[in-house]
Amino acid sequence: MIETERLILRPWEESDAKALFKYASDPEIGPIAGWQPHASVGDSLEIIRTVFAAPEIYAVVLKETGEPIGSCGIMFSDSLHSAAMNKDEAEVGYWIGKPYWGQGMIPEAVKALLERCFNDLMLDAVWCGYYDGNIKSKRVCEKSGFTYHHTNKDIMSPLGDKRTEHFYIMTKEDYNALNLNIDKSRQTDR
Ligand SMILES: CC(C)(COP(=O)(O)OP(=O)(O)OC[C@H]1O[C@@H](n2cnc3c(N)ncnc32)[C@H](O)[C@@H]1OP(=O)(O)O)[C@@H](O)C(=O)NCCC(=O)NCCS
Repeated sequence: MIETERLILRPWEESDAKALFKYASDPEIGPIAGWQPHASVGDSLEIIRTVFAAPEIYAVVLKETGEPIGSCGIMFSDSLHSAAMNKDEAEVGYWIGKPYWGQGMIPEAVKALLERCFNDLMLDAVWCGYYDGNIKSKRVCEKSGFTYHHTNKDIMSPLGDKRTEHFYIMTKEDYNALNLNIDKSRQTDR
Protein backbone atom coordinates (compact mmCIF):
# COMPACT_ATOMS: atom_id res chain seq x y z
CA MET A 1 0.00 0.00 0.00
CA ILE A 2 1.24 3.49 -0.88
CA GLU A 3 -0.07 6.64 0.80
CA THR A 4 0.03 10.15 -0.68
CA GLU A 5 -1.53 13.38 0.56
CA ARG A 6 -5.02 12.64 -0.81
CA LEU A 7 -4.78 9.06 -2.02
CA ILE A 8 -4.18 5.47 -1.05
CA LEU A 9 -2.78 3.23 -3.78
CA ARG A 10 -3.62 -0.38 -2.94
CA PRO A 11 -4.19 -3.66 -4.79
CA TRP A 12 -7.58 -4.08 -6.44
CA GLU A 13 -10.05 -6.32 -4.60
CA GLU A 14 -12.95 -8.31 -6.06
CA SER A 15 -15.34 -6.26 -3.92
CA ASP A 16 -14.27 -3.15 -5.93
CA ALA A 17 -16.03 -4.42 -9.09
CA LYS A 18 -19.07 -2.12 -8.75
CA ALA A 19 -16.94 0.95 -8.03
CA LEU A 20 -14.63 0.10 -10.94
CA PHE A 21 -17.60 -0.26 -13.32
CA LYS A 22 -18.90 3.18 -12.31
CA TYR A 23 -15.91 4.93 -13.92
CA ALA A 24 -14.46 2.32 -16.30
CA SER A 25 -17.77 2.14 -18.20
CA ASP A 26 -17.33 5.80 -19.26
CA PRO A 27 -16.57 5.97 -23.02
CA GLU A 28 -14.33 8.99 -22.35
CA ILE A 29 -11.88 6.90 -20.29
CA GLY A 30 -10.98 3.57 -21.92
CA PRO A 31 -10.82 4.13 -25.70
CA ILE A 32 -8.37 7.06 -25.49
CA ALA A 33 -6.09 4.74 -23.48
CA GLY A 34 -6.63 1.75 -25.81
CA TRP A 35 -9.21 -0.36 -23.98
CA GLN A 36 -12.97 -0.93 -24.29
CA PRO A 37 -15.31 0.68 -21.75
CA HIS A 38 -16.46 -2.02 -19.31
CA ALA A 39 -19.87 -3.32 -20.37
CA SER A 40 -21.01 -4.76 -17.02
CA VAL A 41 -19.97 -5.19 -13.38
CA GLY A 42 -19.07 -8.76 -14.39
CA ASP A 43 -16.66 -7.32 -16.96
CA SER A 44 -15.05 -5.19 -14.25
CA LEU A 45 -14.75 -8.22 -11.94
CA GLU A 46 -13.02 -10.16 -14.72
CA ILE A 47 -10.52 -7.31 -15.23
CA ILE A 48 -9.82 -7.23 -11.46
CA ARG A 49 -9.18 -11.00 -11.53
CA THR A 50 -6.88 -10.85 -14.56
CA VAL A 51 -5.28 -7.55 -15.73
CA PHE A 52 -5.41 -5.86 -12.29
CA ALA A 53 -4.07 -8.93 -10.49
CA ALA A 54 -0.60 -8.24 -11.94
CA PRO A 55 2.04 -6.98 -9.49
CA GLU A 56 2.28 -3.21 -8.97
CA ILE A 57 -1.20 -2.44 -10.30
CA TYR A 58 -3.03 -0.21 -7.84
CA ALA A 59 -6.55 1.02 -7.21
CA VAL A 60 -6.43 4.81 -6.77
CA VAL A 61 -8.52 5.28 -3.64
CA LEU A 62 -9.64 8.70 -2.45
CA LYS A 63 -8.77 8.90 1.26
CA GLU A 64 -11.69 11.20 1.97
CA THR A 65 -14.34 8.68 0.84
CA GLY A 66 -12.50 5.35 0.67
CA GLU A 67 -13.81 4.94 -2.91
CA PRO A 68 -11.62 3.59 -5.73
CA ILE A 69 -11.78 6.33 -8.39
CA GLY A 70 -9.14 5.20 -10.86
CA SER A 71 -6.25 2.89 -11.51
CA CYS A 72 -2.51 3.26 -11.94
CA GLY A 73 0.40 0.94 -12.13
CA ILE A 74 3.88 -0.05 -13.12
CA MET A 75 4.14 -2.43 -16.07
CA PHE A 76 7.31 -4.44 -16.65
CA SER A 77 8.98 -5.73 -19.80
CA ASP A 78 7.41 -9.20 -19.30
CA SER A 79 3.86 -7.89 -18.77
CA LEU A 80 1.20 -5.94 -20.68
CA HIS A 81 2.78 -2.65 -21.78
CA SER A 82 3.41 -0.65 -24.93
CA ALA A 83 6.91 0.86 -24.69
CA ALA A 84 9.85 -1.18 -26.03
CA MET A 85 11.88 -1.67 -22.88
CA ASN A 86 14.78 -3.42 -21.24
CA LYS A 87 14.61 -5.70 -18.19
CA ASP A 88 15.42 -2.94 -15.68
CA GLU A 89 12.86 -0.55 -17.09
CA ALA A 90 9.10 -0.18 -16.68
CA GLU A 91 6.18 1.86 -17.96
CA VAL A 92 3.60 3.70 -15.86
CA GLY A 93 -0.06 3.77 -16.82
CA TYR A 94 -3.06 5.52 -15.29
CA TRP A 95 -6.63 6.75 -15.54
CA ILE A 96 -9.08 8.42 -13.20
CA GLY A 97 -12.87 8.89 -13.20
CA LYS A 98 -14.07 12.00 -15.01
CA PRO A 99 -15.52 13.76 -11.92
CA TYR A 100 -11.94 13.85 -10.58
CA TRP A 101 -10.16 15.18 -13.66
CA GLY A 102 -8.13 18.36 -13.30
CA GLN A 103 -7.34 18.10 -9.58
CA GLY A 104 -3.78 16.85 -9.99
CA MET A 105 -4.70 13.44 -8.51
CA ILE A 106 -2.88 11.37 -11.16
CA PRO A 107 0.30 13.49 -11.03
CA GLU A 108 0.18 12.88 -7.25
CA ALA A 109 -0.15 9.12 -7.85
CA VAL A 110 2.58 9.12 -10.54
CA LYS A 111 4.97 10.89 -8.15
CA ALA A 112 4.46 8.01 -5.69
CA LEU A 113 4.87 5.40 -8.47
CA LEU A 114 8.16 7.00 -9.53
CA GLU A 115 9.39 6.89 -5.94
CA ARG A 116 8.51 3.18 -5.89
CA CYS A 117 10.22 2.58 -9.27
CA PHE A 118 13.51 4.26 -8.42
CA ASN A 119 13.83 3.93 -4.63
CA ASP A 120 12.32 0.46 -4.02
CA LEU A 121 12.44 -1.40 -7.35
CA MET A 122 15.80 0.18 -8.31
CA LEU A 123 14.83 0.56 -11.97
CA ASP A 124 17.09 2.26 -14.51
CA ALA A 125 14.35 4.09 -16.41
CA VAL A 126 10.60 4.55 -16.50
CA TRP A 127 8.50 5.16 -19.64
CA CYS A 128 5.19 6.88 -20.08
CA GLY A 129 3.22 6.83 -23.35
CA TYR A 130 0.03 8.28 -24.74
CA TYR A 131 -1.83 8.23 -28.04
CA ASP A 132 -1.63 11.30 -30.26
CA GLY A 133 -4.19 13.91 -29.24
CA ASN A 134 -4.42 12.88 -25.58
CA ILE A 135 -3.30 16.28 -24.30
CA LYS A 136 -4.46 15.47 -20.77
CA SER A 137 -2.07 12.53 -20.54
CA LYS A 138 0.70 14.52 -22.25
CA ARG A 139 0.37 17.10 -19.48
CA VAL A 140 0.68 14.39 -16.82
CA CYS A 141 3.95 13.21 -18.45
CA GLU A 142 5.29 16.76 -18.63
CA LYS A 143 4.24 17.80 -15.13
CA SER A 144 5.69 14.60 -13.66
CA GLY A 145 9.12 15.44 -15.10
CA PHE A 146 9.33 12.96 -18.01
CA THR A 147 11.24 13.95 -21.17
CA TYR A 148 9.97 13.35 -24.71
CA HIS A 149 11.83 10.43 -26.31
CA HIS A 150 10.20 9.20 -29.56
CA THR A 151 7.01 8.72 -31.53
CA ASN A 152 5.75 5.49 -33.14
CA LYS A 153 3.47 6.08 -36.12
CA ASP A 154 0.80 3.76 -37.48
CA ILE A 155 0.92 1.22 -34.68
CA MET A 156 -2.05 -1.06 -34.08
CA SER A 157 -3.85 -0.22 -30.82
CA PRO A 158 -5.31 -3.06 -28.70
CA LEU A 159 -8.68 -1.91 -30.09
CA GLY A 160 -7.55 -2.71 -33.63
CA ASP A 161 -7.23 0.82 -35.07
CA LYS A 162 -3.99 2.45 -36.27
CA ARG A 163 -2.66 5.18 -33.97
CA THR A 164 0.38 7.33 -33.33
CA GLU A 165 1.90 6.90 -29.87
CA HIS A 166 4.30 9.28 -28.15
CA PHE A 167 6.77 8.03 -25.55
CA TYR A 168 8.37 9.93 -22.69
CA ILE A 169 11.14 8.66 -20.42
CA MET A 170 12.61 9.36 -16.99
CA THR A 171 16.01 7.84 -16.24
CA LYS A 172 17.23 7.29 -12.70
CA GLU A 173 19.71 10.16 -13.30
CA ASP A 174 16.79 12.42 -14.31
CA TYR A 175 14.88 11.31 -11.21
CA ASN A 176 17.81 12.00 -8.88
CA ALA A 177 18.45 15.41 -10.50
CA LEU A 178 14.76 16.30 -10.20
CA ASN A 179 14.74 15.47 -6.50
CA LEU A 180 18.03 17.26 -5.88
CA ASN A 181 16.53 20.40 -7.45
CA ILE A 182 13.38 20.06 -5.32
CA ASP A 183 15.58 19.78 -2.20
CA LYS A 184 17.59 22.84 -3.28
CA SER A 185 14.47 24.94 -3.84
CA ARG A 186 13.18 23.87 -0.38
CA GLN A 187 16.45 25.10 1.14
CA THR A 188 16.19 28.49 -0.65
CA ASP A 189 12.57 28.84 0.55
CA ARG A 190 13.71 28.70 4.18
C1 LIG B 1 -5.11 11.75 -18.29
C2 LIG B 1 -5.69 11.73 -16.89
C3 LIG B 1 -5.22 10.46 -16.20
C4 LIG B 1 -5.19 12.96 -16.13
O1 LIG B 1 -5.46 12.84 -14.74
P1 LIG B 1 -5.74 14.13 -13.81
O2 LIG B 1 -5.67 13.65 -12.41
O3 LIG B 1 -6.99 14.79 -14.25
O4 LIG B 1 -4.48 15.05 -14.17
P2 LIG B 1 -4.37 16.64 -13.98
O5 LIG B 1 -5.31 17.13 -12.95
O6 LIG B 1 -2.94 16.92 -13.84
O7 LIG B 1 -4.87 17.21 -15.38
C5 LIG B 1 -4.10 16.96 -16.56
C6 LIG B 1 -4.61 17.81 -17.71
O8 LIG B 1 -5.93 17.40 -18.05
C7 LIG B 1 -6.63 18.55 -18.61
N1 LIG B 1 -7.88 18.68 -17.87
C8 LIG B 1 -8.05 18.91 -16.56
N2 LIG B 1 -9.34 18.89 -16.24
C9 LIG B 1 -10.01 18.65 -17.34
C10 LIG B 1 -11.39 18.51 -17.63
N3 LIG B 1 -12.30 18.58 -16.68
N4 LIG B 1 -11.75 18.24 -18.89
C11 LIG B 1 -10.81 18.13 -19.86
N5 LIG B 1 -9.48 18.24 -19.63
C12 LIG B 1 -9.10 18.50 -18.39
C13 LIG B 1 -5.72 19.73 -18.46
O9 LIG B 1 -5.07 19.91 -19.70
C14 LIG B 1 -4.71 19.27 -17.42
O10 LIG B 1 -3.44 19.86 -17.61
P3 LIG B 1 -3.05 21.28 -16.89
O11 LIG B 1 -2.87 20.95 -15.45
O12 LIG B 1 -1.82 21.67 -17.56
O13 LIG B 1 -4.21 22.21 -17.09
C15 LIG B 1 -7.25 11.76 -16.91
O14 LIG B 1 -7.66 12.88 -17.67
C16 LIG B 1 -7.85 10.50 -17.51
O15 LIG B 1 -8.06 9.52 -16.81
N6 LIG B 1 -8.13 10.53 -18.82
C17 LIG B 1 -8.74 9.39 -19.53
C18 LIG B 1 -7.85 8.15 -19.57
C19 LIG B 1 -6.46 8.45 -20.07
O16 LIG B 1 -6.26 9.25 -20.97
N7 LIG B 1 -5.45 7.77 -19.49
C20 LIG B 1 -4.09 7.91 -19.90
C21 LIG B 1 -3.81 7.02 -21.04
S1 LIG B 1 -2.17 7.25 -21.66
